[in-house]
Formats: sequence, structure tokens, C-alpha cells
Amino acid sequence: MGELKDADAVGETGNPVCGDISYIYIKVKEVDGVEIIDDISFQTFGCGAAIATSSMITELAKGMSLDDAMKIKREDVAEALSGLPPQKMHCSNLAADGLHNAIKIYREKREA
Ligand code: FES
Repeated sequence: MGELKDADAVGETGNPVCGDISYIYIKVKEVDGVEIIDDISFQTFGCGAAIATSSMITELAKGMSLDDAMKIKREDVAEALSGLPPQKMHCSNLAADGLHNAIKIYREKREA
């Protein structure tokens, strides 16, 4: 939890349902030609479910290739937490979208 000072990219996501916001920080390393998430952290200004899903996604994604991390869906995060009430499913968007945004930003920077 908290800002990753030397992050390669930061994914910012706002939740249109409630106005909460989340930042996912990633640090990427290349191992045998595959880019993996070497370090990851989050700052989430939202409800308990948003904070729990943000925390869980950092655990799920750490050490994963960027391609695999892009495949993590909000349902995967909710499942890893043994489920979320239906009215809280939108909260897990912050974590999944934030991670995907961070990876997209990282790739855009690499191609620039
Ligand atoms: Fe805003 Fe859950 S109520 S993220």
C-alpha cells in the first residue's frame, strides 16, 4: 500500500458510480525476454471493498507477465477475496481497470 516512488507507470481510475479513485503503481522488469511486474503498489481513496480489491490485485499481479496481468478481470479479484456482495462489484473495477491502465501507459511510454 502507498506510492511506489520509482514506478515505471501509474494507472489512475475513477469510479463513475461513486466518484472514488485509485492509483496502481507498477515497476516492470524483463526476465528472459518477458516483461514481468517486478513490484506493484496501490493508493485507493474509496470504500473498504475498493481497498480490499486493490490490495488483492497487487498480490495477484506481482511477478506476472504483463500479458497475463492484462487478463485479470474484476471477477477474478472478487473471487480471490471469496466473493463480494453484488452491490459492491463495481468497486472492484478500480483495481482491475487501474492495473490495466498502468500496463497500457507503460507500453505507450516504451513505444514513444
Ligand atoms: Fe466507491 Fe466502492 S463505493 S469504490
